[in-house]
Amino acid sequence: MNESCIKVENLKKSYGSVQAVDGVSFQVESGTVFGMLGPNGAGKSTTIEILTGLQAKDQGEIEILGMEVEKDSQPLKERLGVQLQSPALFGKLNIRELVTLFASFYQDPLDPETVISLVGLEDKLKEKTENLSGGQRHRLAVALAIVGNGDIIFLDEPTTGLDPQSRRKLWGVITELKELGKTIFLTTHYMDEAEILCDQLIIIDRGKIIASGRPDSLIAEHFTEDALEFTNPSFTASQINGFKELRGVTGVNLSSEDIVLLYTINAPETIADLMALAENEGKNINGLKLRKASLDDLFLKLTGREIR
Ligand SMILES: Nc1ncnc2c1ncn2[C@@H]1O[C@H](COP(=O)(O)OP(=O)(O)OP(=O)(O)O)[C@@H](O)[C@H]1O
Ligand SMILES: [Mg+2]
Repeated sequence: MNESCIKVENLKKSYGSVQAVDGVSFQVESGTVFGMLGPNGAGKSTTIEILTGLQAKDQGEIEILGMEVEKDSQPLKERLGVQLQSPALFGKLNIRELVTLFASFYQDPLDPETVISLVGLEDKLKEKTENLSGGQRHRLAVALAIVGNGDIIFLDEPTTGLDPQSRRKLWGVITELKELGKTIFLTTHYMDEAEILCDQLIIIDRGKIIASGRPDSLIAEHFTEDALEFTNPSFTASQINGFKELRGVTGVNLSSEDIVLLYTINAPETIADLMALAENEGKNINGLKLRKASLDDLFLKLTGREIR
C-alpha cells in the first residue's frame, strides 16, 4: 500500500439547517484514482471545496501531502490542481491565453499547448472562452486543473454533460495522469465511470459515506445475485411486486424509465418462471437482459433510491 496523501477525519460542514457534509472520514493513497460517488446534493462539491481551501470546514481533521489546509494554504496550493463544477473562465481570453495565464501561477507547470492537446482542444487555441460549448468549457476547466503540474488533481464531475465520445476521451486523460504518478480525486454520479476509473471509492449520500472500497469488491461484498432487466409490458405494480415469488428472485424494482429489474441467484429458473407467467398473462417480454450487478444496483440496494 502506498502512503496516503489525503487524510480526512470526521469532516463536517453545514449551510444553515442543511448538513452538507456529515462526519466523513477517508484516506486517499498516492498515485491512485479516488472516486467520490453520489447523487445531486450529496456533498461532493462541498468536500472538494473544503479540501482545496475554497471553503471553511465546521469540524474535522484534514491533512493533505502532510500539510494542513488552513495553515499551509500557499505551499499546498502549488501542489494541487482543481477543476470546479461551475468555473469562472475569463470570457475575453482565448484558450491559449487562459491556460498560459494559469501555468504562470505555478513554479513548475506543464507546457500549456501540450495540456490543451491532451484535453482535445488543440483546434480551438485562439477561441475566446465565452464562445465555447458546454463540453468544451468542461474540458478547458480540466486543462486548467492539470497545467500546474500538481501532485493531486481534483476533478468535480469532469464528465457531466459530455457526449459519450468526449467522456471516453477524458477517461483517457485521467488514466494518463495516473500513469504520470498523479493522484486523482474525482467526483461523479456516473456509476459506470467510477467502476472503470477508480481504484478506491466512497459512495456518499446526504453528507454521509454509505459504502467504501474497491469498485469490484464493493459489488462482490453486497451481491451474489445477477440482475435481470426488461421493458415493462404493462404489468401492474402489484404484479411486479409478485415477481418476488419467482424462483431465484431476491429483489424487485421498477425504474423511472419503466424497466423491470429483478435480482436473481438463479437466472435460468427465474427466466423460465417469468416466461411462463408472461405467457399466462398474454404479455410479451421485450429487451430481456441478464447482467452482473453494478454500482447502480449497489446504490439502489443501500438507499432504496436510484442515483439519477
Ligand atoms: N453555498 C451554499 N449555500 C447553501 N447551501 C449550499 C451551498 N452549497 C451547497 N449547499 C447545499 O449543500 C448540499 C450539498 O451540496 P453539494 O454542492 O456539496 O452537493 P454535490 O454532491 O456536489 O451535488 P451535485 O451532484 O448536484 O453537484 C446541498 O443540499 C446543497 O443545496
Ligand atoms: Mg457538485
